[in-house]
Amino acid sequence: MADQHAQLSWKDETIPVSDRFDDPYFSLQNGLEETRHVFLAGNDLPARFAPGFHIAELGFGTGLNMLTTWAAWEQSGQSTPLRFTSFEAFPMEPVDMERALAAFPELSDYAMQFLDAWTGAPCDLGTVQIEVIQGDARETLARWEGKANAWFLDGFSPAKNPELWESDLMAHVANHTAPGGTAATYTAAGFVRRGLEAAGFAVTRTPGYGRKRHMTRAVLD
Ligand SMILES: C[S@@+](CC[C@H](N)C(=O)[O-])C[C@H]1O[C@@H](n2cnc3c(N)ncnc32)[C@H](O)[C@@H]1O
Repeated sequence: MADQHAQLSWKDETIPVSDRFDDPYFSLQNGLEETRHVFLAGNDLPARFAPGFHIAELGFGTGLNMLTTWAAWEQSGQSTPLRFTSFEAFPMEPVDMERALAAFPELSDYAMQFLDAWTGAPCDLGTVQIEVIQGDARETLARWEGKANAWFLDGFSPAKNPELWESDLMAHVANHTAPGGTAATYTAAGFVRRGLEAAGFAVTRTPGYGRKRHMTRAVLD
């Protein structure tokens, strides 16, 4: 069986780039700021944080989105656990996560707690409960029994990783979204927006991060 772990190269020694998808895991400009702009603000977070809030994500990668969100959750005064579920087909080795996350010193306390505990199994870190469901999201999401309040759609670029953006998968995202729930992504690709609309989301195109002119926000109708 082919190795299902992430195969990486490193750009400038710091940014992991997937060999399989030929795409970086996060913005070459500033991954942390992009996460805040696209996935937090794009889902009206932290304003919507409330006890029991559940975030789901397509593509766990380095864990940067999870750590950024966990830090925002604690800093906004939440003391109950945030639930964070991510779907990942090619998990990254912890040693690679550690190397990638070293670029974000302001997250280092969170990264250390996470990496100390992380075995790949569901993990409870007090103010966050993390579950990474391994396998192709096109199969695993259909079987998932949860519903998220907010979705982070974070596959590699739609041109390089189209299977993580296809309309059938967007329909599963909608079926696994709580009433009034939202989704956000850095891409404004037309077929992604159409897939979200067909799935029942009201979709808007808003200013993107850095050099990206537009991103997409979606609210379940
Ligand atoms: C841009 S990276 C995600 C970055 C991540 N959110 C972070 O915070 O570092 C895209 C991720 O999608 C995963 N992926 C690609 N195709 C997939 C599939 N069919 N099912 C599940 N995960 C997939 C890749 O392995 C990769 O980890």
